[in-house]
Amino acid sequence: MASIRLENLSKIYPGAAAKVVANVNLEVGDKEFIVLVGPSGCGKSTTLRMIAGLEPVTEGKIWIGDRLVNDVPARDRDIAMVFQNYALYPHMTVFENMAFGLKLRNYPKVEIEKRVHEAAEILNVHKYLNRRPGQLSGGECQRVALGRAIVRKPKVFLFDEPLSNLDARMRVTMRTEIHKLRTRLQTTFIYVTHDQTEAMTMGNRIVIMKNGAIQQCAGPMTIYDKPANKFVAGFIGTPPINLIKGAILHKDRKYYFDEGKFRVKLMDEMSGFLAPYAGKDVILGVRSEDIYDKLFVSEASADNTVRVTCEVVEPLGSDVYLYLNSGKNTFMARVGAHNRPEVNRDVEVVFDMRKVHFFDPETETTII
Ligand SMILES: Nc1ncnc2c1ncn2[C@@H]1O[C@H](COP(=O)(O)OP(=O)(O)O)[C@@H](O)[C@H]1O
Ligand SMILES: [Mg+2]
Repeated sequence: MASIRLENLSKIYPGAAAKVVANVNLEVGDKEFIVLVGPSGCGKSTTLRMIAGLEPVTEGKIWIGDRLVNDVPARDRDIAMVFQNYALYPHMTVFENMAFGLKLRNYPKVEIEKRVHEAAEILNVHKYLNRRPGQLSGGECQRVALGRAIVRKPKVFLFDEPLSNLDARMRVTMRTEIHKLRTRLQTTFIYVTHDQTEAMTMGNRIVIMKNGAIQQCAGPMTIYDKPANKFVAGFIGTPPINLIKGAILHKDRKYYFDEGKFRVKLMDEMSGFLAPYAGKDVILGVRSEDIYDKLFVSEASADNTVRVTCEVVEPLGSDVYLYLNSGKNTFMARVGAHNRPEVNRDVEVVFDMRKVHFFDPETETTII
């Protein structure tokens, strides 16, 4: 069992000018499942590889438990890593693949047998122990790769996009498998993914990275409800949050968001934060589920109702997506399955002004 602490961790690859990991500070608690998420190239794998000891640290410190590990070789860090390309040895059986790491470390044969069978039980690959990887599906191979990590009984598991090579259905299955695994193993996990759904569903906490720097680190619902900036708001959530350009209008001692084609009144508790922006541009962020069809809500008023053209209606079974156009901005509403406005007609929708966010267009940080 172990906690991990990253202190001002940075990485510059030889010959490169800029940091690909930039002053990262992070504490991962013992037995915590933390997810690093961000777009491709933002420095997730580099961070993970530095923790594993596979990549030298340019600046900063890595602690595992009480031990400063900057100069500890990978094999002595008591960490197991699982990669996207599971890289099993094709000429070895499943059993031999899972046993390989333990054999290298000269574990006694009985202990190896015991651990491989235990892991095979957990991962449900018992039936395949004598098969070779070529005779397994992608999902089964990834289970074996997980098994290879589990048998080591490491202090920390590092997962680098372990599900990215699997098809959509298998990814969902394996996601729940990893959930169960984590409950059963009670170990510290750092899980890297570019997939925000994986991040939201799996992490105790989510660390969102962009250009090598942490944008926000918090629990999934905090990240969703209180994004630190426009990037985080846009990255987490499907469909993505609507970002609507406009300005703050101060009129008759009230504050409004003025989009140009429509106007909505700010909640009193938000006005204070937006008063300094009176007459200035801001970006309003509103999630599609926080825009309602006026016909189906009771709290509609002139202050929160907007007339727009409905350009596309997408019924998804459980909900309906409406693609709306104000003449200046396009945005999306996710409404109940029974809503079917006519296409290319005006509709009135209601913004849930308690749920909207405002971003500074220059710094992109959250105003409120
Ligand atoms: N061995 C390397 N040498 C030079 N640059 C690298 C190397 N590995 C990764 N990079 C660069 O570092 C940045 C971060 O890469 P990486 O950590 O793999 O991102 P991610 O895992 O988030 O997709 C990228 O711009 C990538 O091109
Ligand atoms: Mg990567």
